[in-house]
Amino acid sequence: MSFRSRHFVDLSDFKRFELRKFLDTAHDLKRKQKRGEPHELLKGKSLAMIFMKSSTRTRVSFEVGMTQLGGHALYLQPSGTQLGRGETIGDTAQVLSRYCDVIMARVFAHSDVTGLAEFGTVPVINGLSDLLHPCQIMADMMTIEEHKGGLEGLKIVYSGDSNNVSNSIMQGCTIMGMDVTIASPKGYTPTEEIMKKTDALSKQYDTTVEVLNDPSEAVKGADVIYTDTFFSMGQERDKEKEDALMQFQVNRNLIQKAKSDVIVMHCLPAHRDEELTSDIMDDRRFSVVFDQAENRLHAQKGILALVV
Ligand code: CP
Ligand code: NVA
Repeated sequence: MSFRSRHFVDLSDFKRFELRKFLDTAHDLKRKQKRGEPHELLKGKSLAMIFMKSSTRTRVSFEVGMTQLGGHALYLQPSGTQLGRGETIGDTAQVLSRYCDVIMARVFAHSDVTGLAEFGTVPVINGLSDLLHPCQIMADMMTIEEHKGGLEGLKIVYSGDSNNVSNSIMQGCTIMGMDVTIASPKGYTPTEEIMKKTDALSKQYDTTVEVLNDPSEAVKGADVIYTDTFFSMGQERDKEKEDALMQFQVNRNLIQKAKSDVIVMHCLPAHRDEELTSDIMDDRRFSVVFDQAENRLHAQKGILALVV
């Protein structure tokens, strides 16, 4: 089984045994890093990182990850490159492929990351698009494994706005054998296209996927409750949407309806007391949000180590 030169753009491009291999590699590299064992698997390799949107975690974890693997990362923004003056994605992909061994991109339009993958001759990693956030969900699944000892058969409930993060949860968690429930208000539920794709995956992997408009009903029996911002990058704040989503806030009252050992997740950055109350976010009996943030580093090192 070879992963070399594979793009990492969409979790649904991978089978369970392939995501398993990425996760196992990530756990292994995390152990090595904690023990101080050298793991310079990408000595002399360079990663081009294109950021069309802001980032703290993705930028720092990819850059530090490349350093720990013995390689090097370059931070590129449209304003400082010819992308900002109209050079096409296709031309940029071809040029960067002549210098670098791998490209990571955070973009608005998902077609920009698939365009890089189409024209680039090196692997392309999706560092978030408006449609998907696959690296985040790899770190999240790693975190769930650390806290719950596995993934298969667990119930994950995402409560909030259906977005790039919930789309990748639907795909990744279904592939790995989890039952997924999305709790979103009417008008903010997953698109038909995402539903169709996830339904097909859930048949293939014998899991359940459901979308409910009632968060209290949704969290019954939940092992994991996940939430994210009401307004993703590039979206305008909107009072009607905010009011609708406040009913889906993750707070003590909601989590009391889940299993007593439920864990609470958020990809961060959090908008405290909007989608997630501060008391729960800071309550280490439930909240694993900073473990998720740390695992971005290890999960992405696992991806880099296999595809480059
Ligand atoms: N979760 C995440 O992708 O964070 P950043 O926007 O800080 O990269
Ligand atoms: N859904 C959020 C995730 C941020 C990491 C956004 O796209 O802004």
